[in-house]
Formats: sequence, structure tokens, C-alpha cells
Amino acid sequence: MKLTANEQAMLEGKYGAGAALAMEIQVAIGESFDAERMVEITRAHVATSNQEADTWFAEKLLLGGAYCKIRPTVNPGFNLKYFQQISEVAEEDAKMMERTHNTYKGLGAVLTYDCTPYLGSNIPHLGEIIAFSESSATPYVNAVWGARSNREASQSALCAAITGVVPEFGLLLDENRKGDILVRVEADMKSDFEYQLLGFTGKKIGIGVPVFVGLPAKISPEALMNLGAQLNTSGAFGMYHIPGITPEAPTPEVAFGGKKPVREVVITNKDLKEILEYFSPASGTIEFALLGCPLLTISQVRDIALVIENKKLKVPMFVLVNSLTKELAKRMGYLDAIREAGGHLVEDTCMDQPPFWHSFKGKVGVTESPKCAFYMNRREMTYIVRDIETCVEAAIKGEVK
Ligand code: F3S
Repeated sequence: MKLTANEQAMLEGKYGAGAALAMEIQVAIGESFDAERMVEITRAHVATSNQEADTWFAEKLLLGGAYCKIRPTVNPGFNLKYFQQISEVAEEDAKMMERTHNTYKGLGAVLTYDCTPYLGSNIPHLGEIIAFSESSATPYVNAVWGARSNREASQSALCAAITGVVPEFGLLLDENRKGDILVRVEADMKSDFEYQLLGFTGKKIGIGVPVFVGLPAKISPEALMNLGAQLNTSGAFGMYHIPGITPEAPTPEVAFGGKKPVREVVITNKDLKEILEYFSPASGTIEFALLGCPLLTISQVRDIALVIENKKLKVPMFVLVNSLTKELAKRMGYLDAIREAGGHLVEDTCMDQPPFWHSFKGKVGVTESPKCAFYMNRREMTYIVRDIETCVEAAIKGEVK
């Protein structure tokens, strides 16, 4: 790669060992993808996981004197204070959360603890070059906002935030952003929930940049959030096009850059039904409900509050949101409605964190998110997947139909 004098100086340690390591990693990534140069970024989002390897890496950079030139937003860990009030938190888990918090604070990150920064705290504009990690975030910034980000790892996004540059390859270049798979959606897309199921057809769609046709003209931010999260659970998609929504794709022809699609995939109601059946264990009895993967928006919290008002939950229910949404829910009365029913509205927390692994191991729950259900199998939990309203009704009855 051809580096500028300043990038070369960073690589050679002029700005400290941490920045040099970050640049070394980015040069290696760039060379692997035949990038010719670095380009400056203006935003970053780091998908912190609050797990040992991730925090160890960030600590290594901090100990090397690194500080973020572009201050990134970060993913949720878990809300230590909240969980210490309602249950016991193992000392090692508490220490890990404190380490993660202190490390990213030291690196200069903006501690949003939110996996949906593209809806509020970190919104790019058309054509902006950025470094975003996180499953729903990368497709959203590319396909909905028209910004340019590769599908970064948590670590490469952190390196980019420190150096202020990324190697120029992949989705940063015009030619790689064009669609190549035509995805004809014949399924009935009645609500935001169908986008969870559509996203989970990533394996059928296959490798490439999909262009979705046949979708309704109006699609909510929540539906697009769901679509991206599930596409990157069932496959790997940094970019897609929805003509009329994706700024670079007013029409399917423009989305394909004037070329013919390399293949066509049709998604029907049968495909969506099969996904739902995959996440529907034989028994309908549930022991808990966990909603918010990705973290829910205020309008989704409102939907929950409307179902739950003046009712009592039979099983524990956790609703995960970012701290702004929690504050709004408090002001708007939704927090009281959820609490009075016996539920928890928790900010800053990802469902893939120790308070949930320890409490619900071996149990059956209900969630709105195939991503949550899919990954939680690793933690020995079983999830039934349903739309948000059905999940809440299931928590009230202790069973799901
Ligand atoms: Fe967000 Fe954690 Fe799910 S980061 S998308 S709540 S796995």
C-alpha cells in the first residue's frame, strides 16, 4: 500500500505503540484486499462484546497510548448496576464489565452502549466514508443512509477510530456496491416482524449484494433494522438495495448498474413459515421473555406498553433498549406500565451477556429476534420466535401459541 508520510510515521511509532499496532493491522487488512491507499473516515462504531478477547485487545491499544482520533459509539455490554439490584452478579462478570467500560472510556469512545447507533447517536450522510461494525449497523448505514463502510470487525473498527483512516477496498468503491442478486419478495410483508424472517433467508439468497423487489413502498426503520440484523445472522451482507429506499438505487436497473443479475431468488410465504417453524419447539410453555435484539426503539416499547397495561406477567420479561429510549419511556409512561406488570426495561444491555446466560440456562424463552434465538442455542437456551405483541402476551400467560 502507498501510505502518506503521516500514516507511515504512525506505523513507525511516532504516535505511540498503540496507534502503530492499529495501523499495522489496517495495513495488513488493506494488503489482503489489494487496497492501494488509506482514506480518511469521519465516523466509527465499535461492536464491543464485553468478552475477554475483545477487551484484552482494546486494553493492549490503550496501554500502548492509543486514543481515538474519531470517537466511536459502542455496542451494549450489560448494565451492572441494574443487575446487581435484581440478582447476584458474579465477581468475574462484574470485573469484565468494569474493565470494558474503563478501557473504552480511556480510548475516548462515546459510551452509548447501543447496537443501533444509525437510528440516533451516529447517523452518517450520503457518501460519507465510515467504519462501522455490528450486524444491523453496517447494512443500515450503506443501504439506507448511503454512507460507505466495509463490514468491519469490532477490532478493525477500533483500529480505524484510532488511526482515523481505513484501507480503501470493498464497499468503499463504486463497483462493489452494485447489486448482483435479484431477490423477488412474493411473501406478504404485513408488519415489521416479516422483515426478521426475510432477513433470515440469507442462506438462500447466497453470497453477493441483493436487490430486493416486491416490498411495500413504505418500510419502517424498525423493519430495516430487523432485516440487516437477520441478514448478517443467516449470511454476510454489508450492502443491499431496496429501490426507492437505498439512495443509490432509485430503480432496480440503477441498483444493478445496468448489468443483468447473476441470479434470481424468490422468497415466498412458505420460506418465512419454514423459518418460523425452525424457531418453534414442540412445547408452547415458556419460562421467560427477552425482547430487544437489536435494542428496541421507543415505538416498539410503546407497542409493548399497550399490550401490557394493567396486566401482570406470569414469567420474567426483559425489554432491552438504549439509555435515550429508556429516558423517553420514563417520560411517556411506558416504563411504569412495564414495571407495574412486573417486567424490566433495561438500558445498555445486550442479550448475549452473562446475566442472561446464568439466569436462563437450560430454559425455554420467547423473543422477537431470530438472531437472539440462533446465537442463544450456544448458551443452552431455547427460544420460540414470535412478533413483539405475541411475545408479550406469552409472558402474560406463560405460554405461546
Ligand atoms: Fe444488539 Fe446484542 Fe442483539 S449487540 S443485535 S442485542 S446480540
